[in-house]
This record gives sequence, C-alpha cells and structure tokens, in this order.
Amino acid sequence: MEGNFKFHNPTKLYFGEDAMGHLAGELKNYGPTVMLSYGGGSIKRNGIYDAVIAALKASGKTVVEDPGVMPNPTYEKVLEGCKLVRDNHVDLILAVGGGSTIDYTKAVSASAWCNEDAWQKYWVNQQNPSCQTVPIGAVLTMVGTGSEMNGGSVITNRKEGFKRGKVFGPALYPNFAILNPRFTMTVPQYQMVAGFFDIMSHLMEQYFAGDRDCTTDYINEGLMRSLIHSSRIAAQNPQDYEARANIMWTATWALNTLLKCGKGGDWEVHQIGHAIGLVTDATHGMTLATVSLPYYRHVMHDGLHQFVRFAKNVWGVRPEGKSDEQVAMEGLKCLEDWMKEIGVVMHCHELGVSEDNLEQVADAVLILPVGYRTLTRPEVVEILRESL
Ligand code: NZQ
Ligand code: ZN
Repeated sequence: MEGNFKFHNPTKLYFGEDAMGHLAGELKNYGPTVMLSYGGGSIKRNGIYDAVIAALKASGKTVVEDPGVMPNPTYEKVLEGCKLVRDNHVDLILAVGGGSTIDYTKAVSASAWCNEDAWQKYWVNQQNPSCQTVPIGAVLTMVGTGSEMNGGSVITNRKEGFKRGKVFGPALYPNFAILNPRFTMTVPQYQMVAGFFDIMSHLMEQYFAGDRDCTTDYINEGLMRSLIHSSRIAAQNPQDYEARANIMWTATWALNTLLKCGKGGDWEVHQIGHAIGLVTDATHGMTLATVSLPYYRHVMHDGLHQFVRFAKNVWGVRPEGKSDEQVAMEGLKCLEDWMKEIGVVMHCHELGVSEDNLEQVADAVLILPVGYRTLTRPEVVEILRESL
C-alpha cells in the first residue's frame, strides 16, 4: 500500500427493481422546492419522468423544471441552472439521467451561490466551494460514469476551449441515489456499450499505477473480470437483467474513490478523451476506447510488471515460455478482442478526428504528471495519430 488515505463516501444508495419506492421517503428530508434536472427527453419516453413526478407530487413539492442537459454538459447550461436555483430558492436538485445530468447538477450546486468566477475557481484552479451548496439527489438512467456516488463534475467550456473535470469533496456527492437496472434498459446499444468501456477505463486508469502489493488491485481485478463477463452477455442480449444489474453495480464501485485507496492513478487516457470530446462532442466512452490501446502500448514498458499482472489475473494469459513483454502484449490483445466483441469504436476518425484537427485536439489535452510515464506533447500527437 502507498501513503495515507481517508475513505469517506456519504452517498446512500437504493439498488434494485423496487429502488424508486424510496424516493418519496428521501424527499421528506428536504425543503419544499425541488429542481428537476434531466436531459433531452428520454425520461419522458420511457416513463421514468412520470414516476418521479408522482413521487414529487405525493411529497407536496413545488417542482422547478430544468430540462435539456446535453451529453458533455456545457458551462453555459450550468449558468442557466444557477439562475433557476437562485430565482426559485431551490432546496434540492434532483438529477434524473446519466453522468452528464448528475455532473451538471454538481456544477450548479457549487456555482449557484458562488460570487466568484466559478469556472476559474473550480475547473481551472481546482479549489473547493466556499459558499452555500445545494443538496443533490440522483435517479440513475445510464450506467458508466460512477457520478451517482462520487464528486466528479466534467464540464465543457467552449469559450475557453476546455473540457475539464473537477472532483468535488463528499459535500457535493449526491446525498442519495436510486439505481434500478430496469431504468437503463432503454439506453441505445451505442450508449450502453460506450458506458461499458467507460467503466473499464476507470478500472484501468486506477490499476495502471504504482508497484506495491495492494489489496485495492485485487478488488479492481475482480471488478474487471465481472465487467468483462457481464458485458459479453449484455452486448448480445441487452435485456438480460442480471448482466445489466451486475454492470450497474460494478460501475458504481469503479469510481467511488475505493479503488484509489493506497495507490496512485493515471487518468491520461481520460485527458486525451476529454480533448476529443471537446473538439468533436463525441460520446465519452467511445473517445476513451479509441485512444486506450495506443496509449497503453506507449507506456507498457514503464510499468511492465503491472501489464503482466493484468494479462495473467484479468485475462488468464499463461506466462510459460514467454517473455514479460510477450505476456503483457497478449493481455492488451485480449483487451482489444473484448473491445471488438462488445462493439466499441476503435478509431477516432470515426468520431470526427482527422489530420486537420489533430493539433487542435492535442492542444486541449491536459498532460498529467502521473501513471508510469508523463507524456510529452509529441507523444500525445503520436498517440492520437495511431488512434486515427
Ligand atoms: O439526454 P437524454 O434524452 O436523457 O438521453 C441520454 C443521452 O443522449 C441517453 N440516455 C440516458 N439514459 C437513458 C438514455 N436513453 C434512453 N434511455 C435511458 N434510460 O444517453 C445519452 C448519454 O447520456 P450521458 O448522461 O451523456 O452519458 P454518460 O452517463 O456516459 O455521461 C457522460 C458524461 O459524464 C462525464 C463525461 O465526460 C461526460 O460528460 N464523466 C463523468 C465522470 C464523473 N462524474 O466521475 C467520470 C467520467 O469519466 C466522465 O468523464
Ligand atoms: Zn470516464
């Protein structure tokens, strides 16, 4: 294990087909005005909106509607939400949607009563709120980000030219989250599979760092194996409840701070993915899928022991008669085969990256001094070119 750590996760989770039954009880803990934040309308088509409204009405709440949170939510939209919170003196923000909606509500919660430049304070200077924040609850409808049980808030600021994450402390985690795997059954296959890869990426970003024997890595390997197993089933039959439920649970644990305990992390794949997302507005999980293999092949020799462990413990690669490099490469080949099997996008030209905008993407990549090696800008360009 490395260093010292604190594990504190205050989110209360309700999981399973009956989870929604707990919403009305939770609402009792908050004042009369609830802002209902959601995306482009999927919740109106699949009935989740009606169920949420019924619970809000039964609890006697005044509802402030806040629709239209887009995938890769923008800072402009955050400022609109802040105005709604202030104008209506909102007591609770209820996010009903995927990571974009939940991330957005954290941004609104921290920014509504902030009398500084919130973008500069949170997403550039990475400071914590010094103002009043608004409590958040979540009804999760799309699996992948882990936003339902963490402080992450990834916001796109087109004017400044960045898509940036801020990891807020436990005060900004959702106070409660409702996780009913049935609610995710209407997610289109493309989004579903992107979510699967997002989970895998969160697991790998935290796995490929450090060189100590650490319990956290064993937990991580178990989650990866469960994800690989269930994603193969769900990609063939998205209506398989057991597989979808297991994946939902895995996604939450993949990014609720457990897996960084006693370890460093990497997160450079996410930085490159965010830059692709900024320039193309592509689906988050797919941006990660296109750059992961080129990235890991670049850093493999710097963390060879962990890539060998990944091959053996996650993919069951047999090491007999092979060099460490061969075992590690075989592990990455297994990863590649799984990605193709579940159907993720393998090349970022399919997302809109080309030689014409590659430098623009590279300019937007935040290079972190983490993982097994800190990239140089020419290496970022090289990785992007290999991802095309
Ligand atoms: O907007 P609606 O109409 O609801 O449609 C959404 C959206 O188009 C649709 N969808 C969601 N639930 C559905 C559904 N369609 C049918 N039935 C349902 N039940 O799915 C589309 C994608 O939704 P979105 O919320 O954008 O997806 P996701 O959960 O992948 O969130 C992506 C965002 O989260 C950030 C990403 O960068 C991206 O901005 N991340 C947040 C993290 C965190 N908080 O820790 C970490 C991640 O690494 C990630 O960066
Ligand atoms: Zn992610």
